[in-house]
Amino acid sequence: MRKESILITGAGGQIGTVLTKALQEKYGAENVLATDLREIKLPNTRTDTLNVLDKDRMTELVVENRVTQIYHLAAILSAKGEEKPRFTWNINMEGLFNVLDIARDHKVEKIFHPSSIAAFGPDTPRENTPQVTPATPTTVYGISKMAGEFWGNYYFLRYGVDIRSLRYPGIIGHRSLPGGGTTDYAVHIYHSAVKGEDFEVFLSENTSLPMIYMDDAIRATLELMEAPKEKITIRDSYNLAGMTFSPAEIVASIKREFPEFKATYKSNPLRQSIAESWPKSIDDSKATEDWGWQPNYDLEKMTKDMIMNLRKKYSLKQSA
Ligand code: SER
Repeated sequence: MRKESILITGAGGQIGTVLTKALQEKYGAENVLATDLREIKLPNTRTDTLNVLDKDRMTELVVENRVTQIYHLAAILSAKGEEKPRFTWNINMEGLFNVLDIARDHKVEKIFHPSSIAAFGPDTPRENTPQVTPATPTTVYGISKMAGEFWGNYYFLRYGVDIRSLRYPGIIGHRSLPGGGTTDYAVHIYHSAVKGEDFEVFLSENTSLPMIYMDDAIRATLELMEAPKEKITIRDSYNLAGMTFSPAEIVASIKREFPEFKATYKSNPLRQSIAESWPKSIDDSKATEDWGWQPNYDLEKMTKDMIMNLRKKYSLKQSA
């Protein structure tokens, strides 16, 4: 097999931490360079700091390492992005343009750039949202993701850059924590439950959103990136689904494991309005048709796995 050389941006984030490890397992730790704005500490990992606005440094890293694939994860998420809209736009878009230009100019073979359910908006059908549908995002993060999808497709059509993308739902995993998103509660709630603490949900109890377990999200990413080029018929971004649940449903699922667990609901106006502008469930049949996508985890299976792993994590901490 030909040697791959992988560059990841935003590798210290919720997805990056886990994807870095998966890519190391697949391609060898020596062939993966994990970068982030801040210094990252991942065991047995080649790391470097990289501000995605610094095109010269990004170019140097790509050239020096003869990079064949870039996973461009650095971005500011939905809720956090609203604090500084123009700043968020700049990071999310200029970062992407740097990656796209470098990929074109230095013949990087494949690019992964995630999009999100945030690319949809209030005019999008909320149930079983189709692959191609009206999308009128109302957060700066969502606008940048939708614009990023169009630009990815443009670089593919115009310059032949092999860019691939998924519209991730909210991602839930036990190995890392999210930051600044609207779906973050669904990770934090498990931590509180396992620690025996009560939890206050920042959304109202019936706010259903599309979600996916981290293991499925990572597998989808690897499967998409491995798929033969001719199978990829969508170059803006593939709809991706795992499961759908409301805060009330995740609480009920946790209570089956921890009957004493107590949650209260206090909707944060910003996060609530963002959540209400997003779909509830996603039609990902195009991903299934093109490259065989199938999720493995539903809410019950995820809850069991999260609790088992977080129990280990916290009991290890206690005994350390
Ligand atoms: N999880 C992200 C957010 O809540 C959606 O892409 O912002």
